[in-house]
Amino acid sequence: MDLVIVNCGQLATLAGPLRPRIGAEMRELWIMKDAALCIRDGRIVRAARWKEIERELDRDHAVIDAQGRVVLPGFVDAHTHFLFGGSRADEFERRALGETYQSIAASGGGILSTVRQTRAASEDELADGALKRIGMALRSGTTTAEVKSGYGLSTEAELKMLRVIRRLNDEGVVTLIPTFLGAHEFPEEFRSDREGYVVLIINEMLPKVVSERLAEYADVFCEPHIFDVGTASRIMKAALALGLQLRMHVDQLSRSGGAELAASLDATTADHLEHTDATGIAALKDAGVQPVLLPGSVYALGSRHYPLAREMIESGLAVVLATDMNPGSSPTPSIPMVISLAVTQMRMSVAEAMNATTINAAYSLRRGADVGSLEPGKQADFVIHDCYDYRDLGYLFGVEFAHQVFVKGKCVYARP
Ligand code: NIG
Ligand code: FE
Repeated sequence: MDLVIVNCGQLATLAGPLRPRIGAEMRELWIMKDAALCIRDGRIVRAARWKEIERELDRDHAVIDAQGRVVLPGFVDAHTHFLFGGSRADEFERRALGETYQSIAASGGGILSTVRQTRAASEDELADGALKRIGMALRSGTTTAEVKSGYGLSTEAELKMLRVIRRLNDEGVVTLIPTFLGAHEFPEEFRSDREGYVVLIINEMLPKVVSERLAEYADVFCEPHIFDVGTASRIMKAALALGLQLRMHVDQLSRSGGAELAASLDATTADHLEHTDATGIAALKDAGVQPVLLPGSVYALGSRHYPLAREMIESGLAVVLATDMNPGSSPTPSIPMVISLAVTQMRMSVAEAMNATTINAAYSLRRGADVGSLEPGKQADFVIHDCYDYRDLGYLFGVEFAHQVFVKGKCVYARP
């Protein structure tokens, strides 16, 4: 043994089958009291009651005393836009004074404002900005995150974003999983030739992304006035044909059959789903698509139109929650904030929200065998939170509890 974390008041292992948790399984965290977590070579060797393993341990290991605190798997944030240039604080203020997200976008702001700022930024500037946000996420307990491109919208700028994501993954401690989102908006220069942009994505961007192995997933912002269902379908089919898996922004601002499209394409995830109804939920269930719910974007847009989380859980969907961290609709890197919103606005229990931000999120990124729970053989990514009841993470809001964060068995953040 290299390291033993002793005196874990509540060790939430989230142990279970080799698949995401559904239905009543999402209410269970498999908590051990007065427990210890044993780590060797960056992996978990054992999670057990302290009494059971006390005598068996050799003497050469390091010991960290959790002093009765809660220990959880590192959070897995399955939907982020951590990488972008500039800020949209000005638009945030305009929205507070009455303008809408859609009207700002229609006047050349919104995503296109971030595209201008991202194109103007150097790789180092983009990396610095993302590192700050990833650092904030780490300090609230996130150890794995998906990151999308989508603010370049030219072959060069999209590849630039994905290369920076790769570099941040290679150099940093948080595991980053890249998604190509060239179909996020139509760039300025293709405003009057939308078909030209779709062809550029299919014939040039996707093949380059794949040949440079810059992404695992492809994504699209499917909305009637942006990439409608027919166009989104063409782009996603091209991505599938090149071997990418799909995560898709669907039914965020309106209901247009996006959930059904994600189901028909066997997407890995369908994200947002604020306007998805029972028919869409049934389609996702039949196809085994994981819903990724993003309550931060509902909250920050001042909407009340949260997705139907309860219905999704009750229908047996393996629900995921994520931040959607981005400069427009969801400027938060905090999974605890998302847990609070899920509990207060979407009637999820804290345990359900925790399954949705750890093991289910890990499976949605094809990392379920490696992270998302504290079981023997898994990567030792875990967090000691400064509380004694795991429910405090949803109950107290606007508070960060992460006390010490571990990645591959190494402490990568300790609260000063
Ligand atoms: O997930 N919906 C599209 N994309 C983002 C928002 C992007 C932005 O406003 O910059 C989202 O909400
Ligand atoms: Fe998003």
